Amino acid sequence: MNMRFEPARSLSGRLRVPPDKSISHRAMLIGAMASEPVRIERFLHAADTSSTLEAIRTLGALVELRGEEVVVRGTGLREAREPDGPIDVGNAGTLLRLLPGWLAAQEGRSFTLDGDDSIRRRPVDRIAEPLRLMGAEIEARNKRLPPLVVHGARLRAISYELTVASAQVKSCVLLAALAADGATTVGEPVRSRDHTERMLLRAGVGIHRNGRHVTVVNADELLLGSVRVPGDVSSAAFLVAAGVLVPGSRLLLEDVGVNWTRTGFLRILRRMQGIVLGDLEDETGELEAEEPVSDLDVAYGALEGTVVEAEEVPLAIDELPLVALLGCFAEGETVVHGAQELRVKESDRIAGVVEGLRGLGADIEAREDGFQVRGTGGLRGGTIDAHGDHRLAMLGAVAGLASAEGVEVLGMEAATVSYPGFVEDLQSLC
Ligand code: S3P
Repeated sequence: MNMRFEPARSLSGRLRVPPDKSISHRAMLIGAMASEPVRIERFLHAADTSSTLEAIRTLGALVELRGEEVVVRGTGLREAREPDGPIDVGNAGTLLRLLPGWLAAQEGRSFTLDGDDSIRRRPVDRIAEPLRLMGAEIEARNKRLPPLVVHGARLRAISYELTVASAQVKSCVLLAALAADGATTVGEPVRSRDHTERMLLRAGVGIHRNGRHVTVVNADELLLGSVRVPGDVSSAAFLVAAGVLVPGSRLLLEDVGVNWTRTGFLRILRRMQGIVLGDLEDETGELEAEEPVSDLDVAYGALEGTVVEAEEVPLAIDELPLVALLGCFAEGETVVHGAQELRVKESDRIAGVVEGLRGLGADIEAREDGFQVRGTGGLRGGTIDAHGDHRLAMLGAVAGLASAEGVEVLGMEAATVSYPGFVEDLQSLC
């Protein structure tokens, strides 16, 4: 579905963004692994998280929908049912990478995971390696791509250093470690989102962090009780960008998750002199159990270019396309380094952003590990192809509101992967 977004006069109003996608996936998976029912308050109902809901049902968990609330009755850590056919993960990379952690511990049972065309291009060798070291047998197409087959086994604890800063891979190993024969330690090159660690801590698991290393002790059972999912800061980021870029705008976004491992974009924006007020969590050095929330108060203002370095990348990974968009409007140059992971997201987001924004009039160049934008004070407008990627579709819409001539987005329906009411929410603010 193609959709046109005309230049907006100003955006104003208050809004609650949809619940967090990362936390919704985790609550559902950990709910399926738990021994007592888990109540999830404000579960995200979107294409990606529906894939997780269907997957855990296939594996034997019972899921009861009560409006925005969902109750999961899990099978326990080691009792996932072997399905008759492949598990369809749809477009969900998080499901593709986290679920095998649980499945690897299902002794004597086998599982196949497959999904859409985009999923079939997402590397899985990054999870196959640690799971094999733990004792599971894993098969992948050309050794690195889905379909992925997991043959469950009795697992052993490992110490493992991740080569990519990926919360998905870290989480996969942490979930597998729950059923292993001791304490597992995972090291990451740069800190990434820690929702899995926080949720496991709340589920009674022995887990602690020491700098870049997380150690988790095997468990007999998980007892999570209930989870309240905060608003998704990655979804909020599109509205924040619209508020900052469209002259005269003022927005209040309510109940947004501000876990410090997710707010890299807001900090980058503040460095660019963007006006976004809110009570962002600071790194404490401890592993926290709760997911903090805050309202975000956003206002239009002039921006300055900035440089984003590799350590900041995982904390803003899904919002880096928006940094490129902001860079088009900023004074001076905006550069992102160390973001080669963007090439293996739902689409090649370096190519998609650079071609897309250039087509709207941006002065932008791709680098192997990021991009470089010279601010020109604005964007002309034109047509942008979402390439089936939800975040590129929403980027195009925001670019349209802030542009001189409007933007036509090819494939706007992709937004339903994470933010089904996105267009309606934007309209309500215009
Ligand atoms: C996610 C981690 C990130 C992020 C993705 C969600 C998660 O992926 O891009 O949208 O929920 O753990 P990587 O772990 O591949 O960096």
